[in-house]
Amino acid sequence: MAEGNAKGPLFVELNTGAKMPSVGLGTWQSDPGLVGNAVEVAIRAGYRHIDCARIYDNEKEIGIALRKLFEEGVVKREDLWITSKLWCSDHAPEDVPVALDKTLQDLQLDYLDLYLIHWPMRTTSFEDTFNPKYFAAVDIPTTWKAMEGLYDSGKARAIGVSNFSSKKLSDLLAYARVPPAVDQVECHPGWQQTRLRALCRAKGVHLSAYSPLGSPGTPWLKSNVLKNPVLTMVAEKLGKTPAQVALRWGLQSGQSVLPKSTTEARIKENFDILDWSIPDDLFSKFSEIEQRRLIRADFFVHDLSPYKSVEELWDGEL
Ligand code: A2P
Repeated sequence: MAEGNAKGPLFVELNTGAKMPSVGLGTWQSDPGLVGNAVEVAIRAGYRHIDCARIYDNEKEIGIALRKLFEEGVVKREDLWITSKLWCSDHAPEDVPVALDKTLQDLQLDYLDLYLIHWPMRTTSFEDTFNPKYFAAVDIPTTWKAMEGLYDSGKARAIGVSNFSSKKLSDLLAYARVPPAVDQVECHPGWQQTRLRALCRAKGVHLSAYSPLGSPGTPWLKSNVLKNPVLTMVAEKLGKTPAQVALRWGLQSGQSVLPKSTTEARIKENFDILDWSIPDDLFSKFSEIEQRRLIRADFFVHDLSPYKSVEELWDGEL
């Protein structure tokens, strides 16, 4: 759960004992040429957590920004929390350490604070990764064993998963020698992950929220989370923006939140959520919001995929 201090919850404690900053900068769809500056602005504004992934194709630029910040003495490596993710083309056990090394090299780091299996999905091509002809059978137990090896080596100080349904997470918990510390999933007021949140709470797995604003900048998702009347009403009452209210709802619900932005003013706005809270009477209104998963990942559903339907991919949690 989130830990409070004078400015509000700043860290969540993982089942490894590590304290992870509860607000992180998301970098999915952060364009090359912009992401380095976004990281710099964020860290100078007080962020201490950056969420990365090999597939976002921007880790080199993030690494350059981090190096600069270290050299200028703005922040030390040990004060930062850096997460990255194993892509679907790297699930073979012999590829797992190679993929981590590539990410570490790009980020110019010698360890990650958290390394996640990005999807419960496997392909055999990185370059043409969404082409169904490269889709392959998933074998999470084998991939997880390789992840546990990275944890043992210390190169990944915590390991976890992303986009795992309640069923897939339960299956993993049943055989894992090192239990996953985190399940990073879509979570915002319009997709609250009620079932998965209860499971995570019961099992000591931390739920980290990606797309905590409902990804308003992704046209194909047709998101209207920030326009939801509950959010706009609460925002108006508290003198905050709907984005801040969405993020604060996430923190108060126990999640860490990973808002993406490459816009300086928004990066700062999204961090200004620590010294105020949504009172109980307004917080309870969030349960009235209609629920809809935005990121259904139809791109992984195909006759040649292990998942023949979105229901199968998410085990009915839609
Ligand atoms: P931009 O990067 O141009 O600032 P999510 O983290 O839910 O995926 O949302 C990311 C999207 O939300 C991006 O398109 C980002 O745009 C936009 N965004 C980030 N912060 C805010 C904010 N405070 N208000 C409105 N939109 C925002």
